[in-house]
Amino acid sequence: MSSYEARFKVWRGDAEGGGLEDFEVEVNDGEVVLDIIHRLQATQVPDLAVRWNCKAGKCGSCSAEINGRPRLMCMTRMSVFERDETVTVTPLRAFPVIRDLVTDVGFNYAKARQVPAFVPPEGLGPGEYRMMQEDVDRSQEFRKCIECFLCQDTCHVVRDHEENKQAFAGPRFLMRIAELDMHPLDAAEEAGLDRKRTAQDDHGLGYCNITKCCTEVCPEGIRITDNALIPLKERAVDRKYDPLVWLGSKIRRR
Ligand code: SF4
Ligand code: SF4
Ligand code: FES
Repeated sequence: MSSYEARFKVWRGDAEGGGLEDFEVEVNDGEVVLDIIHRLQATQVPDLAVRWNCKAGKCGSCSAEINGRPRLMCMTRMSVFERDETVTVTPLRAFPVIRDLVTDVGFNYAKARQVPAFVPPEGLGPGEYRMMQEDVDRSQEFRKCIECFLCQDTCHVVRDHEENKQAFAGPRFLMRIAELDMHPLDAAEEAGLDRKRTAQDDHGLGYCNITKCCTEVCPEGIRITDNALIPLKERAVDRKYDPLVWLGSKIRRR
């Protein structure tokens, strides 16, 4: 086993302010960035705040920015960096810092609460739902989300624009709306809820200009833009500009 000393810059501070601090820390074969942060805690800075849980890329807690890119610390191998490269670890930029690498991601929970849940079809009980495998596969991709919020952090609509946060749900929750809107058994429309319209009017779908940055950072490889956001935009536009669709929706709502 080989080991070496790596140079790290880690952001330390709180809501009042802070800055990068330099460290030299041992790295061993097979380690990930989270291992190094834990070694820093164990040997040099016992009060370094970091959030983590599974160390297996499944809980979505250890999100941070590594050399400026939103990533999971537990899934970022040290071997992707040159040995003489300085590795910089900073908290997620789109959310308020609590302390060191820990941010307040409450914005995301608030947005989650604003998305109306699946509306069960009338007359069918659980166990009686039947769906085409194709439809199951489609929502299964979206259900792989581990809620790491890396996509929310990287999206330029809110990354440096606090003022957009109120009007924009972000890719993770627009994807959730798309998932429900594509669900063949969702009876929202019968219940008077137009998910396409609310995506536009209440969750800021129009702010997304399909740059795909969210897709690029998703650790689950979910094709957020191609498979959720673009189809949702297409469906929302169809609804708005197709006179027959518009008329149908008015009649159904009466
Ligand atoms: S594709 Fe849309 S949601 Fe995703 S990062 Fe770009 S603007 Fe944000
Ligand atoms: S869609 Fe991907 S990047 Fe976004 S919260 Fe879910 S797992 Fe994380
Ligand atoms: S610790 Fe759970 S995803 Fe990294």
